This record gives sequence, C-alpha cells and structure tokens, in this order.
Amino acid sequence: MHHYLFSLIFFAALLGAVNTVAAVPEAATDFSRAQLYEHLPGGAGSSGKRGKNAFLQPAANLSFANKLDFKIGESIFAKFWVFSPSSTQASDGLGPLHNARSCMGCHIRGGRGHVPEGNWPIDNAISMLMRLSIEPQNEQQRALLASGEVPFIAEPTYGAQLQDFALQGMPAEGRISISYTEQPLTLADGTLVSLRMPSYSLADLNYGPLHPDTKFSVRIANPMLGLGLLEAISERDIMSLAEAQERSAEGISGRPNRVWEHSSQSIVLGRFGWKAGSPSLNQQNSAAFATDMGLSTPLFKDAYQGDCTVAQQQCLQAADGRSAHLGGLEVAQQMSQMLDLFVRNIAVPKRRNVADSQVLAGKKVFYDSGCAGCHQPSFITEQDAADEQAGQLIWPYTDLLLHDMGEGLADHRPEFLANGSEWRTAPLWGIGATAAVSSKTEFLHDGRARNLLEAILWHGGEAAQSRDKIINIDGSQRAALLAFLESL
Ligand code: HEC
Ligand code: HEC
Repeated sequence: MHHYLFSLIFFAALLGAVNTVAAVPEAATDFSRAQLYEHLPGGAGSSGKRGKNAFLQPAANLSFANKLDFKIGESIFAKFWVFSPSSTQASDGLGPLHNARSCMGCHIRGGRGHVPEGNWPIDNAISMLMRLSIEPQNEQQRALLASGEVPFIAEPTYGAQLQDFALQGMPAEGRISISYTEQPLTLADGTLVSLRMPSYSLADLNYGPLHPDTKFSVRIANPMLGLGLLEAISERDIMSLAEAQERSAEGISGRPNRVWEHSSQSIVLGRFGWKAGSPSLNQQNSAAFATDMGLSTPLFKDAYQGDCTVAQQQCLQAADGRSAHLGGLEVAQQMSQMLDLFVRNIAVPKRRNVADSQVLAGKKVFYDSGCAGCHQPSFITEQDAADEQAGQLIWPYTDLLLHDMGEGLADHRPEFLANGSEWRTAPLWGIGATAAVSSKTEFLHDGRARNLLEAILWHGGEAAQSRDKIINIDGSQRAALLAFLESL
C-alpha cells in the first residue's frame, strides 16, 4: 500500500514536470546538423512560398472552408475605407482623423511598415505612427493608471496617437518630422559601421500646443506572420521562461507585460505590439480600426469617431458610418471575425538552407552569444488552441517578455507595466524574407536599423553583453550569424 501510494505521488510529480517543461523544448546543443522540424518554423502550417507575398500566405493546414474565409479576411485587411456619408456603405466611416485608409497601408504586403523616405510631402509617415501620453495629472488619473485598465493617460488635446490625416476640410493633427545623426562605430576587427540615431519633432500642430509633459513613442507596423501561433503559446511557458531568466546569472531578466483585456474586463498577459501592450489579436485588430482608422467594431462600439478628443469638436461632430444593417457599427461582427481569422492564420515561411554549414555555424554564434536567452527558439503550442494552431512545434525566436534594452533604444514612455526602456523580444521567424516583402530592410520598433547587423548593434541594457560579443568576434563568424538570421 505504502509502496503504491509512493509511486502514485512519484508518477504525479513526473507528469507535473513533463507538463511544465515539455512545451519549451530543450535548447540546441549539436550544431553539426539541423534539428528535427527546424525547417518548419510555423509547424504544420508553414508555407513554401517566399518572395514578395511571403507574409500573405494562408497556413498550409487551413481547411478549405477556412481558406475561403481567409481570402475574405485578406480583402478586409486590404480594403480602402472612405469617409461618410458615402454610397459604398460597407466601407465608410473612415476617420474623421486617421493614420491610414487600410490595414495593408501600414502592414505593407503583410510585412512591416517603413520610415518615410525624404521629407513630407514627398512621403508621409503612413506606416509609422506616434503614440502620445502624459504623466497622470491628478488623483483620478493616478487611480485610473494604477487600476491597470489603461495603458497610459492620453495627451488631452491630441489623444493617444498623432493622426496625420483628416476628413477633407478638417485639419489633420500634424506630422512627424525625423532627422538622423550618424554614429560611427568600429568593430574589433576594424570593420566600420554607422548607426543612425533618430530624433523626432512635430510640425504643423493644428490644434494648438501639446501638453508640456508629453511623451512620444514612434513605431513602425509589425510584420503579420505567425500571429495566431504566438497567441497559442501557453502563458505557463512564458512565465516559466521569466522565472528561469530570473534564476540565471546571465543578466537577462525578462518580465511579462500585464494589460487590460476588454472582452473579459480583466488584467491578463500582454503579447502583441512592440511593448506587448495588447493581449489578443481581436483586441489589437479592433484597436487598429479604432485609433488608426476611426472605425467602430464589436469590441469598441463607441470608436466611430476614433481618437477625437473633447478639444476637437469638429471631429466629434462629423458624420460617421454606423448603419443598422451592420449591427449599428462600421465594422460588422462578421467582418471583424473574418479579419481575425486572416490575421490568425498568416503562415510562417519555411526556412531555407537549415543544413548549410555556414548557417549552422551562425546558429552556434547565436546561441554562444546569448541571443537565444531572449529570442527563445521554440515552443509547443497549447493543445486546446484552435485546430490549426494546436499542439504545434514552432520556432518564433521570442520569449514574448519585456527586456530593458538600454538608453539607445528607450522611448522613455511607459505602456501598462513596460517602462520607457523595455521592449518585447521581437520574433525573428521570417526575418530573412524582409527584403523580398518590403523591398528594403528596416528593423527595430522605429525602423532605425537599416540591416540586421545594425539591429544587433543597437541592442543594449540586458542585451549589452550579447552585443559586445558580436562586436568582438571576427568577420567570418559575424557573416555566419547573419547567414543564420537570413535563413529564418
Ligand atoms: C497607421 C499604421 C497602421 C495601420 C493602419 C494598422 N496598423 Fe497594425 N500596427 C501598426 C503599428 C505601429 C503596430 C505596433 C503597435 C504597438 O507597438 O503598439 C501594429 C501592430 C499590429 C499587430 C501586432 C503584431 C505583433 O507582432 O504584435 C497586429 C495584429 C496589427 N497591427 C493588425 C492590424 C490590423 C488588422 C489593421 C487594420 C484593421 C492594422 N493593424 C492597421 C500600424 C498600423
Ligand atoms: C535581452 C534580450 C535580448 C537579447 C539577449 C537579444 N535580443 Fe534581439 N531583440 C530584443 C528586443 C527586445 C528586440 C526589439 C527591440 C526594439 O525594437 O527596439 C530585439 C530585436 C532584434 C532584432 C530586430 C527584429 C525586428 O523585427 O526588427 C534582431 C535582428 C535581433 N534582435 C537579433 C538578435 C541577435 C542576433 C542577438 C544576439 C547577438 C540578440 N538579438 C540578442 C531582445 C534581445
């Protein structure tokens, strides 16, 4: 009897252990050949297509019926919204203030946004945006922030974001003006690199001065691949990585963002956006409709005037696109669902050259330099996720945690628990397809890095040791690391 009980407890403990570690697979130790399934970063849904439409492919394991809905979702993602009133009732309600007319306008071909080339009006900041906020000014704002229900206190006149477009006859809020200072850097082997440090200012502010303590955060649109798989990573696995980092002495200590989930009215783990400020794809997508385009959705029914503030009466009084046949919304329930399905199921492209000797050597540099400490290579997704995402071995190269990245990258602007120098580890899957999708490469939250090496050299804070290793290795090892990243 005693014996039986003992083995039962032992067995339960074993199961418990399996449960907590199984979903975060062991790190690679053998770099002489590729790991099993490493070439399929998006699991069974990985797509064989690369090239300029690499980030618009349906997951390969989507059912036929869902593939049709994916196509409809894609057309909503690409749809150009128009102002109200309009004869095309299913596409109106844009703005009045807005940043773009379509999701695709920023997430270009499903890829990332870019820094405007040259100065306005030659190119405006469509796929780049600026968030605005202030320190809480009174007890009420302090209490609101402390409740965890808002990410920050919006700037009182301009709102949460600067909109650089408006309805005809109504002034836009203003525009972002960027200038760069080149900072030369010599690597240990004599290679000369230059990093461009951005400096942002605002021009043509049409609604008067900003609050004197306004904080800014400039971001380009993230690439859209594999997002449903990131949503299907178990919270338990993300927390176990945070705990393991806390225990280890390597100077890496990621922590989760905790954000307000509107559907459940509760505080949950943040996963999406450059500071992991959004908990789910539905909320992220609905927030984009609201703030970037001024459109109301089932989640944000009152967002039909977008980011207008009480200081912007003309904006508040403009016509909107709500109509009875769309359930009193601008983006009806079904449209929102199809869009979510599309966003959840964009495939991750298969990797290239996984067994190439230079790529494998670069993979070793990646591990030896501590990159994998934050860019967690693989997970097994939750079994109870949607069919296409459930129980998949995936290789996103992120822990979805926030890390202090140092002064160089800091925006000095908090978002929920993320402070002014913390950013979510950016997923690296598909990063080698960036040039093909975007015709050029611009990395990091504000697109300042013009190539992968610059992106690495901007790493500071918890990643400073990692960066220094890359500065100090010889050119052939660095080339191998870049070949590995290009193979992702
Ligand atoms: C004006 C440009 C712009 C438009 C329009 C836009 N986005 Fe975004 N999108 C961004 C930026 C910038 C981010 C990063 C936001 C952050 O860090 O909080 C982002 C982030 C996202 C993410 C999170 C991706 C990740 O890796 O975490 C999703 C999902 C997304 N957008 C979906 C959409 C959808 C769907 C639409 C259309 C309804 C849309 N976006 C419209 C600029 C835009
Ligand atoms: C302490 C955690 C940490 C370590 C260690 C780390 N990174 Fe990162 N990495 C990040 C974060 C956070 C970002 C996003 C920063 C931003 O956008 O400002 C990022 C961004 C990147 C990007 C740009 C991704 C994009 O989509 O724009 C690349 C490339 C990258 N890291 C490669 C590496 C390599 C290679 C190493 C090892 C030399 C490394 N990282 C080490 C946390 C880390």
